[in-house]
Amino acid sequence: MLGCSSMRLAPLLLCAAAAAAVPPAAAQALPDLDVPFVTTPDHVVDAMLALAGVTARDFVLDLGSGDGRIVITAALKSGARGMGVEIDPALVKLSNENARKAGVADRARFVEQDLFATDLAPASVITMYLLPDVNLKLRPELLKLRPGTRIVSHDWDMGDWQPDAKVVLDVPDKKLGLDKKSTLLLWKIPAVVEGGWASGKRLRLNLRQRYQMLEGEVLYRGQTYPAASGRVDGTRVQLCFAQHDTGRCRLGALGRLVGSELQLLVDGAGRQQVTVITRRNGGR
Ligand SMILES: C[S@@+](CC[C@H](N)C(=O)[O-])C[C@H]1O[C@@H](n2cnc3c(N)ncnc32)[C@H](O)[C@@H]1O
Repeated sequence: MLGCSSMRLAPLLLCAAAAAAVPPAAAQALPDLDVPFVTTPDHVVDAMLALAGVTARDFVLDLGSGDGRIVITAALKSGARGMGVEIDPALVKLSNENARKAGVADRARFVEQDLFATDLAPASVITMYLLPDVNLKLRPELLKLRPGTRIVSHDWDMGDWQPDAKVVLDVPDKKLGLDKKSTLLLWKIPAVVEGGWASGKRLRLNLRQRYQMLEGEVLYRGQTYPAASGRVDGTRVQLCFAQHDTGRCRLGALGRLVGSELQLLVDGAGRQQVTVITRRNGGR
């Protein structure tokens, strides 16, 4: 596990603030932490939940849940269910008390658990205020989750996995950093559509995928388009086969992965829109 002494400069600031925030007696009793305890300010919690679009249908999992505020706020303001996993038993006790006081103990619960030993699959939304190295260690497990699962991280990114959305907030009373701002990053787990797809001889796709980004070759009605590009948003797929000089898409497709089929609506070049269902022809 990472200790505070092994961290880079910005995380060290997080450590310093945490050391100042935790009374010495409690600090001695703390288990081995991957991330120190620093709370997300209330208006930043609201913005994280708004960025993820949390509703009553969601199950929110906060990894390293501190005093429980993210899951409790999701239950209070959106009616969502959720769970926080936290390695510090004193914070778990405090969080369950806070949930009871807020009247949401039936929807928000907290367990003493290592976030790396947590089953992430039940979550539709995962929230994190961790550290860069911890995010990167979690990344392979996050990418295995159900397509469309939303991940929101306070301040730290996921390396070369670019976010689908980003919000920067003023946080005048922020204890960390010099710019008094919080950055919130959203990722949606992309379906895997990499590989070869065909609908007879009319449409053939050969797609390469890096996270949510697509590129590849397309054969459509006898014409080859060698530099197609696109992106995946959950199970939705957007492709541009060829662009105008202006950079706008001249011929492309919108669609969705349904089971093992890509259902596409091809549009452009003055043609009528045509619904095409293609079948996987190789790939993962
Ligand atoms: C920066 S705080 C964030 C608290 C809360 N999520 C928030 O945003 O207000 C990180 C929390 O992760 C907890 N933590 C550190 N390592 C952990 C681990 N391996 N498993 C579970 N929780 C951990 C710490 O005790 C701390 O409460």
